[in-house]
Amino acid sequence: MKITILSLFPEMFTGVFGESMIKRAKESGAVVIDIVDFRDFATNKHRHVDDYAFGGGAGMLLAVEPIDRALQSIEGYQTATKILLTPQGVPFVQAEAIRLSKVEHLILICGHYEGFDERIRSLVDLEISIGDYVLTGGEIGAMAIADSVIRLLPGVLGSPESAPHDSFYDGLLEYPQYTRPVEYKGMKVPDVLVSGNHAEIDKWRREQSLRRTMERRPDLLKKR
Ligand code: ADE
Repeated sequence: MKITILSLFPEMFTGVFGESMIKRAKESGAVVIDIVDFRDFATNKHRHVDDYAFGGGAGMLLAVEPIDRALQSIEGYQTATKILLTPQGVPFVQAEAIRLSKVEHLILICGHYEGFDERIRSLVDLEISIGDYVLTGGEIGAMAIADSVIRLLPGVLGSPESAPHDSFYDGLLEYPQYTRPVEYKGMKVPDVLVSGNHAEIDKWRREQSLRRTMERRPDLLKKR
């Protein structure tokens, strides 16, 4: 998979994409990540990519031309899935991460400033929000989307059978898990998990998963 990110702050991605699983996914060739600084596509001598809003109002808006020109510079951009990060987008959920993990080329566009020129919306396939709060820009959203998608790519997870147990994978939260020691400061691992009875363990996990979802996220159960 290829992921191209349009951002005015390419260095924000260095740490996140240079460690752990994403680093390994890049090294193995499972993903190629390209960061494009769309300031390079500004057409004025000051390299401004923002401008005042017609009709007045506070703050500056991201102009359409640098984004359009940056997109056109990307090989295969016509067939790529182009996503704009904005709090006005559809809320990002695991089902969408799974869908996007099957796409060949994702382009994530990170806005900044007070907003966008509305015409930028016509350049993309999809607008995504990572939650009902406002960030200073789309970069953290792009990192969240890239991270959740990359870990689903074949060969990236250390243990390929673990993804189907992820929280949200089947619309439920994950069951509680324990590692050694069996007892710590009086807190014991449930007997069933050390029983070796796999049918009972599966049953217990399913029940715990349902219970946890009911207690913490009844909205997820309703959706199912
Ligand atoms: N840009 C600013 N806030 C955002 C959010 N909640 N999701 C995605 N992009 C954003």
